[in-house]
Amino acid sequence: MGVNLRGRSFLKLLDFTPAEIRYLIDLSKNLKDLKRAGIKHDTLKGKNIVLLFEKTSTRTRCSFEVAAHDLGMGVTFLDPGSSQMGKKESIADTARVLGRMYDGIEYRGFSQELVEELAQYAGVPVWNGLTDEYHPTQMIADLLTIEEKLGRLKGVNFVYMGDARNNMGNSLMVACAKMGLNFTACAPKELFPAEDLVAKCKEIAKVSGATITLTEDVQAGTKNADVIYTDVWVSMGEPDEVWESRLKLLKPFQVNKAVMDNANPEAIFMHCLPAFHDLKTEVGKTVGEKFGITEIEVTDEVFESKQSVVFDEAENRMHTIKAIMLATIGS
Ligand code: CP
Ligand code: NVA
Repeated sequence: MGVNLRGRSFLKLLDFTPAEIRYLIDLSKNLKDLKRAGIKHDTLKGKNIVLLFEKTSTRTRCSFEVAAHDLGMGVTFLDPGSSQMGKKESIADTARVLGRMYDGIEYRGFSQELVEELAQYAGVPVWNGLTDEYHPTQMIADLLTIEEKLGRLKGVNFVYMGDARNNMGNSLMVACAKMGLNFTACAPKELFPAEDLVAKCKEIAKVSGATITLTEDVQAGTKNADVIYTDVWVSMGEPDEVWESRLKLLKPFQVNKAVMDNANPEAIFMHCLPAFHDLKTEVGKTVGEKFGITEIEVTDEVFESKQSVVFDEAENRMHTIKAIMLATIGS
């Protein structure tokens, strides 16, 4: 049966079948080829989208803007201070207003509940640009990157190290379960993903043939890994005070040369970015100086190594977000 995503919102990968995810990966590849060949693809000319950001962003915002322009669409960007949403106007009212003017709405913010509510009332596709619980647009980019680099998804041994119960840990576990990658969360048990989501993913994995493993053992967890993935140890919206306990908990789970050497020789290193791999950022410098460290979730050596594919992964955010908008708005 053909895949038709027109009119659908993109809120979390749990809502999509493997065939639909496959369709989005393949469409992304086509759009990437068109862009590379310099072939115009402004098939959504005359349409308009709005971007609502309650948290900061580089990749997601720029991907939506560039992809929308390539597709011929107009874009309005609203940052936290510049709309009435939540302060003077409810989510439901905001959604119904924006849905009258725009053909699609991107939302980055805090609770998943909020983006689900926006989608319920908007009457046009809503795309989740990151919530505390999920980061689904990042997943299509990550799957595309893995397939480009390793030539396959099914059977790939995927290891996520670090805060495994944040938006990235949750989303990657779902993505792997759906698409047949063997997912290992290598983390302290305090930061394992929630039991109900793990149970859900184990059910999904039965169909795709994937495995789901949670371990605190870095040596065993990263053995035979094809992908080593990490994310920041403190996410947007978390208070600065958690840094101290998080650093203590996660220190053994840093991605460093020993971890990469223990993985398969051809293993790739991935990170959704931004990353703290040196002290060249405000936060990196403050945390580094306070706790006497120079690198946090990944060493500079690994980040800058040949195995690191983080910038190809970042580029793929744009091609994949373009595919998600094209598929759900429809031309
Ligand atoms: N990976 C990601 O979502 O990056 P931004 O926070 O810069 O959008
Ligand atoms: N877990 C990170 C992801 C950033 C893209 C955060 O929420 O800050």
